[in-house]
Amino acid sequence: MEYPGRVSRATVAGGRPLGPARLVTSQAVAFYREQVVPRLTNLMLGSKQFGDKIRARATAGLHGDVIELGFGSGLNVPYYPAEVAGVWTVEPSTVARRLASARVAASTVPVHDGALDGERLDFPDGRFDAALSTMTLCTIPDVGGALLETKRVLKPGASLHFAEHGLAPDAATARRQHRFDPWQGRFAAGCHLDRDIRALILAAGFEIETLDTRYIKGPKAWSYMYIGRARKPAA
Ligand SMILES: C[S@@+](CC[C@H](N)C(=O)[O-])C[C@H]1O[C@@H](n2cnc3c(N)ncnc32)[C@H](O)[C@@H]1O
Repeated sequence: MEYPGRVSRATVAGGRPLGPARLVTSQAVAFYREQVVPRLTNLMLGSKQFGDKIRARATAGLHGDVIELGFGSGLNVPYYPAEVAGVWTVEPSTVARRLASARVAASTVPVHDGALDGERLDFPDGRFDAALSTMTLCTIPDVGGALLETKRVLKPGASLHFAEHGLAPDAATARRQHRFDPWQGRFAAGCHLDRDIRALILAAGFEIETLDTRYIKGPKAWSYMYIGRARKPAA
């Protein structure tokens, strides 16, 4: 029964009632996104090989105060260089942050809760010496907005270090990426296969300092990587 001040479990935004089957489905989808995906991501992206090859490269040269977009389960923590004074995390998933807790506790670099959403960073302009993003620009809904926010909170001349998967250069793989993209979004909580990472970074006003693009091990549609650094212009 509906009465003022009470929202029935069987309604969705807009007030339309959900039937029992749709209610169970929407709860199962929420459970999968919130509970299962962060654990799967922790396992799938947690290999030593990926860490030593990709995370070590993305984190090399970080220093001072660093903001990490899409901190996830903290898989970059063991790779932070000693020159990092502190890391401020940006991560919406409670489960991912919980999975990170042992890595954070063991970290020699202080790790602070920073923000929940890369699209809105509650930090002043020019607050950070560097930013880090690995396997995250695929997932943030308004990725252009998040990159603008990241640039805003970096000091002039400071760099965003990134290692991201995205749009492949060969037409056949790119076609498959476009075709699989809607399914990827469902199975991987909003992850996109076909974002052109270089174009997105440039569109936000960064200057590319270094960029290595290549396929890593795995199915081609999922394994085209953009690894590099992009600088916030000095003036
Ligand atoms: C594929 S995971 C990568 C996690 C981690 N960066 C790594 O390399 O293992 C993508 C992460 O982006 C996070 N994410 C999603 N939306 C976000 C947003 N609006 N702002 C910041 N992070 C977000 C997800 O919660 C998830 O932890």
